Amino acid sequence: MRQDLFEAARSVRERAHAPYSRYFVGAVVVTEAGSLHAGCNVENGAFPEGWCAETSAIAHMVAAAPPGPERRIAEICVVADRIEGRLVTPCGGCRQRIAEFGSPETLVHASDPDGNGKTYRLADLLPAAFALDDGR
Ligand code: THU
Repeated sequence: MRQDLFEAARSVRERAHAPYSRYFVGAVVVTEAGSLHAGCNVENGAFPEGWCAETSAIAHMVAAAPPGPERRIAEICVVADRIEGRLVTPCGGCRQRIAEFGSPETLVHASDPDGNGKTYRLADLLPAAFALDDGR
């Protein structure tokens, strides 16, 4: 995993609004064009209304550019504390959101705040993904 990517995700994690779970998450997407977009989780007192760090990062990417390589996810890095030794990995809904703008080869880097982690292919996290079309 690229160091700049990890540092950006670790940094944005500090902006998370997570007063209910106290679980702070940062995410950064790298587009096919090479741009970075960061996001953190934003919780809400009406619990289902909160959203994940990956969702924030994807929303920033979409808001920044029209369809094309600037809106395609080549890589995404997620940083959060380990839970009972397990690395954070994107939830099911976020895997589907990554798939909307990525490909089976999109790299998903899951890391703890010390920079120790693991890289997955999206196809391994979301096999047989649902898609109405290729999304482009
Ligand atoms: N969360 C994320 O932001 N990303 C993940 O990959 C896993 C979970 C958030 C949602 C919620 O604010 C908190 O972590 C606890 O579930």
